[in-house]
Amino acid sequence: MEISVLVSDWQGHRLLDSGDGAKLEEVGGVRLIRSEPKAWWSRSLPAAEWQRAAAEHEEGGREGRWRLKGACPKEWETRYGDLRLTLRFMDNSKQFGVFAEQSPHWEWLARQRPAPGQRPRLLNLFGYTGAASLVAAKAGWSVTHVDASKPAVAWGRRNQELSGMAEAPIRWIIEDAPTFVRREVKRGNKYEAVLLDPPAFGRGPGGEFWKVERDLAPLLRACRELLSPEARFVILTVYTIDASSILCRNLLEDMTRGLRGRVDIGELALKQESGGRLLPLSLWGRWQSGGAA
Ligand SMILES: C[S@@+](CC[C@H](N)C(=O)[O-])C[C@H]1O[C@@H](n2cnc3c(N)ncnc32)[C@H](O)[C@@H]1O
Repeated sequence: MEISVLVSDWQGHRLLDSGDGAKLEEVGGVRLIRSEPKAWWSRSLPAAEWQRAAAEHEEGGREGRWRLKGACPKEWETRYGDLRLTLRFMDNSKQFGVFAEQSPHWEWLARQRPAPGQRPRLLNLFGYTGAASLVAAKAGWSVTHVDASKPAVAWGRRNQELSGMAEAPIRWIIEDAPTFVRREVKRGNKYEAVLLDPPAFGRGPGGEFWKVERDLAPLLRACRELLSPEARFVILTVYTIDASSILCRNLLEDMTRGLRGRVDIGELALKQESGGRLLPLSLWGRWQSGGAA
């Protein structure tokens, strides 16, 4: 069984170093430090390189806070092809608006162009600030983007406008993902593709508690009912440290039983510039109809 490691080659984000539970990154020209529970090894770059960071996230409180040096902007931008993505430091999150390790999925998505004259439907659950939604809309899909966070969805809309895609068919929805999927099943709506990027823990806008090991399998079963007879793919990513990509295969095989297709699995990683080591960040599984790569 093959487990493929997909490594981001997106120029908009650089991983400069990692180790001792932290990572040193540069995104849109801003150098920053965040904790990284998966970086168990020692750092490659000298301390002076780390000290040049313009921003550092400090753990503590509810979700910690960012400490910015000198003229470090609170809000700035990076690009992914034609897309313009806003980045922002917020006190209650160590995320700043983009998950660079996802870029191999964006590249793959950009190649899934619909046949001329067709606009198939793609559901993006836990879609955050919308990078994948924008890539899919640009490729010709009609996108439904669901996230529990009002600021994340507003941020996604802003990225859409900044990217000159105001007219692109993206439906932005602030809702608990399982609740939305149950509603769609009742309404009889169908999709040709589903993306899921669930966190380990989360909350819906009404306080609904999300716990990946308890809630993912039932959510995938419900999503199965949303797949149209022309369904083309399902992409799942899982960040939980004690999971395995084999688990993604088993879940996707359960979900797509009876449909013709294949499941591929692997990990998503960032390549560190110093020393060239890989920082593993996420597991993924992808079901594709028909068996063609
Ligand atoms: C791992 S991030 C997604 C990253 C994003 N797909 C990307 O690649 O940029 C998880 C997202 O899930 C959302 N979330 C957490 N619990 C949720 C729930 N119950 N329903 C919907 N979204 C939820 C969070 O607001 C967050 O935006």
